Amino acid sequence: MENFFYITTPIYYVNASPHIGHAYTTIVADVMSRFYRMAGYGTFFLTGTDEHGDKVAEAAEKAGDTPQAYTDRISAQFRDLWPKLRITNDNFIRTTDENHKKVVRSILQKVYDAGDIYFGEYEGFYCVGCERFYRESELVDGKCPDHQTVPEHRKESNYFFKMSKYQDWLIRHIQENPDYIRPERYKNEALAFLREPLEDLCISRPKTRLTWGITLPFDENYVTYVWFDALINYLTGAGYPDSENYKTFWPVAQHLIAKDILKPHGIYWPTMLKAAGVEPYRHLNVHGYWNIEESKMSKSRGTVVKPLDLKDKYGLDPFRYYLMRDMVFGLDSNFSEEGLVQRINSDLANDLGNLLSRSLSMAVKYCDGRVPAPGDADAADSGLIEKGEGLIDEVEESFKALQFHKSLISVWDFINMTNKYIVGQEPWGLAKDAARRDRLQTVLYNILEALRIVAVALLPFMPDTASEMLTRLGIDEEQSFDDIRTWGGLKAGNTLIRGESLFPRVTFEKEEEAEERRLTDVKPEVSLDDFEKLDIRVAEILEAEMVPKSNKIMKLKIDVGEERTIVAGMGKDYTPGELAGKKIAVIVNLKPVKIMGVESHGMLLAAEKPDKGYTLVSFDGDAKVGAKLQ
Ligand code: MSP
Repeated sequence: MENFFYITTPIYYVNASPHIGHAYTTIVADVMSRFYRMAGYGTFFLTGTDEHGDKVAEAAEKAGDTPQAYTDRISAQFRDLWPKLRITNDNFIRTTDENHKKVVRSILQKVYDAGDIYFGEYEGFYCVGCERFYRESELVDGKCPDHQTVPEHRKESNYFFKMSKYQDWLIRHIQENPDYIRPERYKNEALAFLREPLEDLCISRPKTRLTWGITLPFDENYVTYVWFDALINYLTGAGYPDSENYKTFWPVAQHLIAKDILKPHGIYWPTMLKAAGVEPYRHLNVHGYWNIEESKMSKSRGTVVKPLDLKDKYGLDPFRYYLMRDMVFGLDSNFSEEGLVQRINSDLANDLGNLLSRSLSMAVKYCDGRVPAPGDADAADSGLIEKGEGLIDEVEESFKALQFHKSLISVWDFINMTNKYIVGQEPWGLAKDAARRDRLQTVLYNILEALRIVAVALLPFMPDTASEMLTRLGIDEEQSFDDIRTWGGLKAGNTLIRGESLFPRVTFEKEEEAEERRLTDVKPEVSLDDFEKLDIRVAEILEAEMVPKSNKIMKLKIDVGEERTIVAGMGKDYTPGELAGKKIAVIVNLKPVKIMGVESHGMLLAAEKPDKGYTLVSFDGDAKVGAKLQ
């Protein structure tokens, strides 16, 4: 029987543009989907956008758009981003799709007809950020623990889903299927929640409050609660209720989410499915959070990391590799650009890149650019061959346990073993001795074969890099994991391509440091003529403010006879308040430069202090604003 694999990502809210958190989940889903495909499974991969509810309606209003125009715009940002990250989703669902609305209404009707939805009054604390009611006991100092905001007190008549009815069933289901929610810490978290009596779920919003939603099939004065609508996407997107695709893939459905939305996925969703007569999904895979500078990403602190910025700066595959390698699935991880650069230089440029380039150059030099025919293996080869043949089993074992970083460590152990094999076998020495030609060919063959195995194992993680490696080894057929279970799959005679280095080394410099260097890099010597080209004037600082994302760079509004904006790295030396009103010296005819997104029309003069930092050049007596320095 053929094996099947169905993976979903959360459908992302369209109230913000995609960031590294969305990219991580979607890349993991992509790596999983590619991996299972190569392992011989039929796969289906679904992602999309979540477009109804208060949160999106509020964001649209803030942006001065209609909800439809707004959701069209932001949904497209997600849809267009994924191909750039080589995401191979099979479907992209929007909850505003007509088909989805139809499915939601049909499920609501079914659950209503079965008597599991009733009308009642509700009073509680509603967090718009979470789109859910909180019990008073769940609030911390009266605030939502996730958003640190005071929830709205709401009292209204609404429809309720009898979730409480399914509490015992759900506890049993989780206990009988120990990997239903994984890793274990999240299973325990769900069970801990289920130790308290489960309340019924409010699944409607009166249209007097919110119209941006799916109208209930049994009461047109209400729209559907956004989570009840959103979770159903996993059915709609697969082709519920009748399609072959749905019948094939639903029984093996696995959801991938972060810990923030464990409750709707681990509690609401299984009980909804049960009530609708649909079998439960197979696994809920829960990962931790990427934090920035050890804390939650925040728009106001300017720490939102955009995936395309990193891709453009460092390349896609290094970015994908870093995300998969530096997070232990289930735990939080700290994102750092410095960490990414380290991975590029050590794992990618040094270990993998060097292995490929030295191997190809030797083969090109000693074997006319073709894969040599190997002679008989000798004892020195057996360790490498054994590890190579077992590699994919090792990688698969960790992978299926969601330990993606361990899969990569296994590949890197093998890469390093191959590097050591080269050092031990000294092909350059063998090449000097015609009598050892046979051995030279065997050694070079083994190195190239090891590279083929590495490339195939890396295809799901770094698709472009791995394909490039295969091309250089003269392989153009599609590869599967079965092709690397036995040594010797690489064909002798294949044409090799030496190519450029796969991963040029990169140097890391904090953006801020780079900007500061630009600000302070003044040429050491100039002639008098050159000096006279400079127009230096007395300026008065009118206003000063810090540039977002920086604790050094400031934006200054100055008066030099006319108003201008300049940017200066004085934030560690002066507070904005201290600067307003100061008279300083500014080079005003410097070509404008953009620093951290702000155009600077001039440069102020400052001197280093004896300890650390800078002091502004200022004037003893009164100086006239706009006066030339001479
Ligand atoms: N619309 C709901 C999901 C409905 S699914 C039926 C939603 N959307 S969201 O845009 O807020 O996305 C949340 C998800 O984005 C997380 O579960 C996770 O997959 C991803 N991440 C958002 N921030 C993240 C980090 N900082 N780190 C890792 N993943 C994060 O919730």
